[in-house]
Amino acid sequence: MTTLSCETPETQDHAPALMKILERHERRRDRLIPILQEVQEEFGYLPEEQLKAIAAVLDLPAAHVFGVATFYTHFALEARGKYVVKLCDGTACHVKASIPILEALQKRLGLSDRKKTSADALFTVETVACLGACGLAPVMVINEEVFGQMTPQRAVELVDELARKEGGAP
Ligand code: FES
Repeated sequence: MTTLSCETPETQDHAPALMKILERHERRRDRLIPILQEVQEEFGYLPEEQLKAIAAVLDLPAAHVFGVATFYTHFALEARGKYVVKLCDGTACHVKASIPILEALQKRLGLSDRKKTSADALFTVETVACLGACGLAPVMVINEEVFGQMTPQRAVELVDELARKEGGAP
């Protein structure tokens, strides 16, 4: 029987949950994507140590597991903030200027296309495909709350309001 070979405290803490997921999928290599989906649901993202452990248990090269995890934009490789801001960049939202909203949020929070979570771990800003509310374009979602007809200024105001509520300023 393969055991987890990564001996960091983080992996040890998460090992039972990870092993349950792997067992549920019978440790099958062809179940890698659903395994990664469940691990992300469990931990909120795909921690590097968990990816290494998955590779060890499935007897796959770590580079392969990392490759799959980075290929799909659905997977997050870093911890997400308390508030996950999803900006729609589907066609309807894109033509109604979703990118300036993204740029305004990134500038306000010190983020970039590679750095999606603010230093204070309060905000993660991501783009997503059509959210199914094109009539409200451009659309932004903060956690589960949907905001339509968004503008760069309003988006920054919303983030500032939340930051104030949390006792800080971005
Ligand atoms: S394209 Fe943004 S909600 Fe459809």
